Amino acid sequence: MAEILAIYPGSFDPITNGHLDLIERGSKLFNRLIVAVLTNLEKNPLFSVSERVEMLQEATHHIPNVRVDTFSGLLVDYARQKHAQAILRGIRAFTDYEYELQMALMNRKLAPDLETVFLMPALNYTYVSSRLVREVFQLGGSVTCLVPEMVEKRLREKGAETVR
Ligand code: PNS
Repeated sequence: MAEILAIYPGSFDPITNGHLDLIERGSKLFNRLIVAVLTNLEKNPLFSVSERVEMLQEATHHIPNVRVDTFSGLLVDYARQKHAQAILRGIRAFTDYEYELQMALMNRKLAPDLETVFLMPALNYTYVSSRLVREVFQLGGSVTCLVPEMVEKRLREKGAETVR
């Protein structure tokens, strides 16, 4: 069988243990996995693209077949450019399903040969999202065990930066 390259796209603002769990699962399923950070975010991100890439690289450096990259524009165009065969996305709960289904079907309409593969993260990460991590942290709550340790450190530094 041909080697399968998959793209795991997202905003990763910041990477959570749920993302990392999915990356580890995906790296066992596919020959190569590219974690691709969207650069043209409409939202106002907490971390810059380069900060997010650095954190992803640090969190995944132990997985040899995983690479971190950035992309802008349509995901299907980026996937074509990389000659990827699959897109990896995580589904945590039923509420993710509608949005993910819409995206997967739109991507299939645009690129019929590209398959979207959904994986579920470990049960203990099903409630974790970057948005909630940012919110809890910004309101003074603990995000220990929800993000890698160095992300927690970066969040603290970010907090100190905004206070300055
Ligand atoms: O982690 P997120 O923010 O839910 O990721 C969403 C992402 C980056 C996968 C999605 O917004 C995306 O693919 N954007 C690129 C633009 C695009 O291709 N849009 C059409 C998708 S159907």
